[in-house]
Amino acid sequence: FHVDWDLMTAEKAGFDHFMLKEIHEQPKAYRDTMRGRVSEDGRSVALSELSLTPEQIRGINRVHIVACGTALHAGLVGKTIIEQLARLPVETDVASEYRYRSPIITPETLVIVVSQSGETADTLAALREAKRNGAHVLAITNVVGSSVAREADDAIITLAGPEIAVASTKAYTSQLIAFYLFGLHLAQTLGTQDEAFVAKMLAAMQALPEQVEKILAQAETVKELAESISKHNNLFFIGRGVDYAVALEGSLKLKEISYIHSEAYAAGELKHGTLALIEEGVPVIALLTQEDLFEKTVSNIKETKARGAHVLGIFNEGHEEEVAKSVDRGFAIPRTLPLLTPALSVVPLQLLSYYASLALGHDVDKPRNLAKSVTVE
Ligand code: G6P
Repeated sequence: FHVDWDLMTAEKAGFDHFMLKEIHEQPKAYRDTMRGRVSEDGRSVALSELSLTPEQIRGINRVHIVACGTALHAGLVGKTIIEQLARLPVETDVASEYRYRSPIITPETLVIVVSQSGETADTLAALREAKRNGAHVLAITNVVGSSVAREADDAIITLAGPEIAVASTKAYTSQLIAFYLFGLHLAQTLGTQDEAFVAKMLAAMQALPEQVEKILAQAETVKELAESISKHNNLFFIGRGVDYAVALEGSLKLKEISYIHSEAYAAGELKHGTLALIEEGVPVIALLTQEDLFEKTVSNIKETKARGAHVLGIFNEGHEEEVAKSVDRGFAIPRTLPLLTPALSVVPLQLLSYYASLALGHDVDKPRNLAKSVTVE
């Protein structure tokens, strides 16, 4: 009697790759990261792990978010979240740049470092620089006991579970959840949002896991789109507001594992730069989730269409008719609050890069020249 016991296969729980498994684990990661951090009546945030006092929060006059790679992209969404919810000025910085540009750090600065592993050398160095200058440092990390978690004054642990695939998926979205919770925590303390809004946003957050499941159920559609994209060697992602931050992440994900070159542009900036590179058949992935920016992005889409672009639009359910007029293919995401769309819109982009990499026969989980955690500067 012989059992072929391959631990890696067992851990993939029936999925072909860790990345696909981790993409599918996102509903659970969202729930786990929220669990215990929302009051029982669902109307307020309770981040009891934080040592940061209400008085300290009232003293904060600026926020710096520092990270690398995908965590940096979560930090770009984090900037909008904190600015909108707490009305504090926020800068998001590349960790390897931060301490060499003599940033203005005072004891009134809150520095948030974001790191899945909690061991990234550049992020850790930025954390130490912030502490040296007297800032309060909050870590958002997936690893309890990691260097970043230990050295920071406070930590919000994302409960995504171990992430094995080099390309980050569930860690990124859990970082978004941590930012939403922390943004609301600041808003509650500072009184920048009323109770009804906080309750409404928390209710919308509780609906996210099921909405992600709805998107995952359409993986086959994304697979088809990915197969057609995999035939190109150059493409563009565009979006405005938080859609731009998600465009950056979608582009990075695709480059990391499929090696297809892409660029992410703020939709309105394309015409100031590389519109010349859009020629017949070049795929453009346009994110259109921000209702107040919808028309503006549509006009940018038209600029690319006029040059022959083949446009895939990621938009909110209910906009099918309008979107159909300006894009070639569309993918609808369930409706949520404008600030929460990144937690949904990134999912089809993760699937897109996964299936593009697969179609090209690459090693999805271990792409060339990339390490899961980079502990050198
Ligand atoms: C490496 C990985 C990226 C990751 C980045 C930051 O470059 O290849 O996927 O986003 O590090 O990692 P961290 O653990 O700090 O989030």
